[in-house]
Amino acid sequence: MSEATQATADSNLPPSCAGGLENLDDEHSYYIDDIRGEVPSDLRGTFYRNGPGRQRIGGEPYGHWFDGDGMLCAFTFTGERPHFRNRYVRTPKYIDETREQSIRYRGFGTQKPGGLLANIGRMPANPANTNTIEHGGRLLALNEGGKPWQLQPGDLSTVGECTFDGALTGNEVFSAHGKVHPRSGDYINFGAGMNGFGLKGPKPCLNVYRINTNGSLYKQRAVALDSFPFCHDFVITDRFAVFFINSIVFGDMLSVLAGFKTISDVVHFDSDRAMKVIVVDLETLETKREFSMPPGAMIHFGNAWEQGDEIIVDGMFTDNFEANETLADVFKPDARFGGGEFRRYFLNLASGQARDEIISDLEMEFPTFDTRRTGDAGQATFAACSVDNGANSFFNGIVCVDPNDNTSSHILTPGSYASEPLYAPSTTSDKTADGYLLEVVYDARKHLSELQIFSAADISAPRCVLGLKHHVPHQFHGFFSAS
Ligand SMILES: [Fe+2]
Repeated sequence: MSEATQATADSNLPPSCAGGLENLDDEHSYYIDDIRGEVPSDLRGTFYRNGPGRQRIGGEPYGHWFDGDGMLCAFTFTGERPHFRNRYVRTPKYIDETREQSIRYRGFGTQKPGGLLANIGRMPANPANTNTIEHGGRLLALNEGGKPWQLQPGDLSTVGECTFDGALTGNEVFSAHGKVHPRSGDYINFGAGMNGFGLKGPKPCLNVYRINTNGSLYKQRAVALDSFPFCHDFVITDRFAVFFINSIVFGDMLSVLAGFKTISDVVHFDSDRAMKVIVVDLETLETKREFSMPPGAMIHFGNAWEQGDEIIVDGMFTDNFEANETLADVFKPDARFGGGEFRRYFLNLASGQARDEIISDLEMEFPTFDTRRTGDAGQATFAACSVDNGANSFFNGIVCVDPNDNTSSHILTPGSYASEPLYAPSTTSDKTADGYLLEVVYDARKHLSELQIFSAADISAPRCVLGLKHHVPHQFHGFFSAS
């Protein structure tokens, strides 16, 4: 731990989340000995997590949480002792900066040393740090600013950048939040891009991709937009994909291209800009309907489903982008990572009318659900939440919003922090309630992390805790692979 983090830990107050942002430079592989409770015998598979494993290189912090290098963690359950492994994705950025022990690349909020000449015309490097998916025979590390990076499932070694056999070309990028379509098994994803040139210059678009269970990217279409989108996540139903084009906008990108500013410097919330919602047909990948909503931003989504003429979409709403100030200075002593508000949108494809309602006023983020039920109505949503327990610099609890919109929660001990809870199914039951919720928790008092395993039917207390030998830096997203 750094001296600043240690100083916080030595006070009488519960320690902040800051230690959970320190590097985990070492790569581990071991069977877990510290097992409190009993590992469920019907929990089998691998729980993958991805996130920035380091926020400093050569002691110098990056200029944004999004610029830390991607490090995958894998908790593997076979019926014997669980196994843990962590490994960095060997991107050019990771390799070069590890060798030089200094910042060598421009990032979302990080300038490459060397002034304007070192940054002019350079786009952020891809740190492969946001999410992971196993589909079509590939394990991928994902970041929306670049192409996927393929890893070996067993030892997490890096295979290389993935273009889906050349289907992703040029500057085409691939979001971190693709969805598996339950009926077809296809993996649906998108990337913000440009589709040719018009009178006003490059024509912005969303490239929508469909990849079959053999890993072949067999369908692609550009959905035209009127501005370059801030679009991080989306939803699918059985027949549709739904994209929320937020009121968060990219400002003066010329100053970014000229090397004066980073993208983080110019991205901001525009309270005069309506939020546009685009519904895309999953068969044709053509736009089915567009909606205009009051200004706002939906960063992460829960489930969505079709009901009569309506598509109903769950997600986390915010009306500002103040969080970016924290993300750009994660080691600030009073840094606080906040969440959003659980809202439900009702989009009527027949009338073009749209409305929304607030499901919970609890501060929460990182919504997840039993993805076998993607597109099904009446499913439970799980999320990270933040409550005032004397230590809420980061998410400090998990919440379950049941099909009747009732909320139950588990609040961590003050000084413990966690983010996205992920659902893992039982191998012996297809009922959501019989599965599990997996949550990596950082204990700032001990500067150690553990995996807490909850029954999905009752999150009031973990039924099993797996203690690690080290901390795991706060991560973003994950995936449970039953194979
Ligand atoms: Fe995300």
